[in-house]
Amino acid sequence: MEVSVGMVGYNFMGKAHSNAYRQVGMFFPELAARPVQKVICGRNEERVTAAAQQLGWEETETDFDRLVARDDIDLIDISTPNNVHIPMAIKAAQAGKHVFCEKPLAMNLAEAREGLAAVEQAGIVHMICHNYRRAPAVSLAKQMIDDGILGTIYHWRAQYLQDWLLDPQAPMRWRMRKEVAGSGVLGDLMAHSIDLALWLMGDIDQVACDMETFVKQRPLLEKVDTGLGAEAAEGAEMGTVDVDDGAIALARFANGALGTFEATRFAAGRKNYNCFEINGSRGSVRFNLERMNELEYYNAEDPADRMGFQVIQATDPGHPFMGLPEGGGPRYWPPAHIIGYEHTFINTVADLMRGIAAGESPRPNFEDGVKVQAVLEACEQAADRQEWIKVESI
Ligand SMILES: NC(=O)c1ccc[n+]([C@@H]2O[C@H](COP(=O)([O-])OP(=O)(O)OC[C@H]3O[C@@H](n4cnc5c(N)ncnc54)[C@H](O)[C@@H]3O)[C@@H](O)[C@H]2O)c1
Repeated sequence: MEVSVGMVGYNFMGKAHSNAYRQVGMFFPELAARPVQKVICGRNEERVTAAAQQLGWEETETDFDRLVARDDIDLIDISTPNNVHIPMAIKAAQAGKHVFCEKPLAMNLAEAREGLAAVEQAGIVHMICHNYRRAPAVSLAKQMIDDGILGTIYHWRAQYLQDWLLDPQAPMRWRMRKEVAGSGVLGDLMAHSIDLALWLMGDIDQVACDMETFVKQRPLLEKVDTGLGAEAAEGAEMGTVDVDDGAIALARFANGALGTFEATRFAAGRKNYNCFEINGSRGSVRFNLERMNELEYYNAEDPADRMGFQVIQATDPGHPFMGLPEGGGPRYWPPAHIIGYEHTFINTVADLMRGIAAGESPRPNFEDGVKVQAVLEACEQAADRQEWIKVESI
């Protein structure tokens, strides 16, 4: 079965998704559904044509409504900034297309709920691209928790640290504008940590939070340019940053565990330091995306003279996503021939294809997106009011 994809947005995520569509059949030969890179959509004809050539798409469109109206498209991939996720997802669902949407799902909780209602009513398959769930070492942590290997869970500790805004002259981009991004690092990076926490630990009951905008004015780019690496013109006019640069949060989980979250674009030296540590009655696990093939594991039941964290290379065919079905050997490469960032997207697209073949929405889907959005919104309220806030249920 072929799944014809129409993708909108073709920069950072557009490239990561294109690569995944192109590679998935090579590494997941067992899939019943295969993506076809049919149409790429963008607002600028010249740029979208160049992107189609570079990223391997058959055709282009410069209007999203025209893309959605085509009857040769099965799946709409939304790789655009946050303000258009839900409007595009609703149009796609109403046209009967499956939807694969980037995170965060929406600008706020009310909008996320609208999106969920639309995809449920349309009965299409929907999924959100929280790709870090599908790093094999992260999925291994999930298996270990579900198997009771960590025992009763007491603590969740997450950091998602970057430093690309350290330079106060770094120009304004859509990620620094509330009307486009919804929030700053909260909805950008902490959203990933929240998704992982909800998956690995379960629901969050209440949160406390604070946020700061460290650099409040930044040079405007001469033209709106969402491309990476663009620079502000000399003596450019300044614009106001109206989103958070750094955020911290405390959480109480429904299972009684305590959690902390930290996310920033100002952690000098930290480039994509997406970490979590979980402490349970029988042991701990720790993951850091910058060493993404590894899961650190401490077994509290080891003999005292051999206790200590061990490093599991999650690259064996027995590890999640790493083996072909029925003991068929490595899916990617032999053990310890490591994989990288792009494989998290290939694994995600593989599960999306399985979902489309089965008519089921893989996790995380829009329901999970609403849950993440509820925690984000509670964080914003907690920071505003400087008090603990109960997280709304979906
Ligand atoms: N899953 C992840 O790890 C991850 C990583 C980065 C970004 N993201 C998410 O992916 C989305 C895109 O981020 P990015 O880093 O690729 O952004 P980007 O700025 O690199 O690319 C955005 C693309 O969308 C296009 N675009 C912008 N506004 C549009 C509109 N109104 N209509 C049509 N096209 C439009 C731009 O021309 C560009 O091609 C965001 O929602 C972001 O939060 C997710």
